[in-house]
Amino acid sequence: MHKVTMLGTGLIGLFYTMSLHGNRSRDHVEVVYSRSDERGSKFAQDWGIPRYTTDMKAAIEDPDTDTVVVGLPNNLHEEACILAAQAGKNVLCTKPLARTAAEAKRILDAVEKAGVFHGYLEDLVYTPKTLKALGSVRNGALGKVLWARSRETHPGPHSSWFWDKEMSGGGAIIDLGCHCVEIARNFIGKDIRPVEVMCWADTQVHPIDAEDHAVGLVKYANGAIGQFEVSWTFRGGMDLRDEVSGTEGTIWLNHWLRTGFEMFTAVGEGDYVAEKAEGTTGWLFPVGDEVGGLGYTAMFNDMFDSIDTKGTPREDFYDGYVVNAILDAAFKSAETKRWEPVMLEVWRGKDEVETDTFMTDYDAEHFLIKEEKMADGRTKLILKEKSGGKVVQKVVE
Ligand SMILES: NC(=O)c1ccc[n+]([C@@H]2O[C@H](COP(=O)([O-])OP(=O)(O)OC[C@H]3O[C@@H](n4cnc5c(N)ncnc54)[C@H](O)[C@@H]3O)[C@@H](O)[C@H]2O)c1
Repeated sequence: MHKVTMLGTGLIGLFYTMSLHGNRSRDHVEVVYSRSDERGSKFAQDWGIPRYTTDMKAAIEDPDTDTVVVGLPNNLHEEACILAAQAGKNVLCTKPLARTAAEAKRILDAVEKAGVFHGYLEDLVYTPKTLKALGSVRNGALGKVLWARSRETHPGPHSSWFWDKEMSGGGAIIDLGCHCVEIARNFIGKDIRPVEVMCWADTQVHPIDAEDHAVGLVKYANGAIGQFEVSWTFRGGMDLRDEVSGTEGTIWLNHWLRTGFEMFTAVGEGDYVAEKAEGTTGWLFPVGDEVGGLGYTAMFNDMFDSIDTKGTPREDFYDGYVVNAILDAAFKSAETKRWEPVMLEVWRGKDEVETDTFMTDYDAEHFLIKEEKMADGRTKLILKEKSGGKVVQKVVE
């Protein structure tokens, strides 16, 4: 059993606590930090947490807890993680790890220097559908992954600090792009180096200094492309979708809207339907098991199992650092309108990767480019001559 210090009583503090205290969990929040006495006291009462405090350092250094979960605004992650590392505790930090790669690197260095367990709480690589899809990719069902496209769009965040560029580190790119980039890394292979990024970003709707909409491409050393589509301007709820294309197959995932639970109510039944739902009446798309569906349950299982076995979780602070480095390049590209290199001070993946195109022999003289059954029953073969390289076609009755 692990005794947890929970930092933050906002949206993520709530989801994390729901998840930790669900399913007859052995791991329990023992102390919660909130800026407000009133909110801390209410949260502690609601969730059966023995202690609360408005002193973040005291919460982290609580002698009775072994694990600190950071669920605070982005600008506080560095301070909280470093204090937790210095206190010798396991540190689990929400996404994004930091506002920039430089900040993330300082956090990574602190936990590694202290030798403490660190887990990056990237829940969306732990959704039931994503875990299953990653298994299929690992088993070779898709061949080589060529393109991983990930979208997170909604009408914008629920607290003022997200909209303040200094506190958050950016807009939709830092808030939502961090998920999409890490989802694509998981499908393409976390040992494949992200090389460069091209990104469009704009502030289309809201009166803020940061971007509220962006689309980016992340090029990987093996030729694969990660694509992220993020927005705080999207209407209709929260759209979470991923597509993965490989040489031998395709996966489409829809995690949130219209996933099989559709309900109409003329009168509603209370205030909450699902995260970022825009209405409480009319056609609604509730979510059966929200903490499970968003990956929190499997994520905390992996984190605490890894602590117990002294193993490495699926996501750690090095992953958070790589994500921040990719996002730094995205911000730069949005400004320069050019491909920008991903600057990684430390690379722990493969240095050499295969980038060859696939040459399938048809016969001694030809490579096969494509074979297609036509509507008239004939088969068309598109071939490339091995000598000379001419592209020809052959029809087989
Ligand atoms: N899917 C996910 O993994 C996910 C989802 C939502 C948020 N997050 C992350 O969790 C962190 C917190 O986000 P949230 O949605 O819980 O935010 P929130 O605004 O709902 O809650 C923020 C919490 O931090 C506390 N806090 C302490 N100091 C603060 C300060 N100076 N200003 C504002 N709040 C302060 C607030 O009191 C509150 O308890 C962020 O890093 C965010 O990116 C992750």
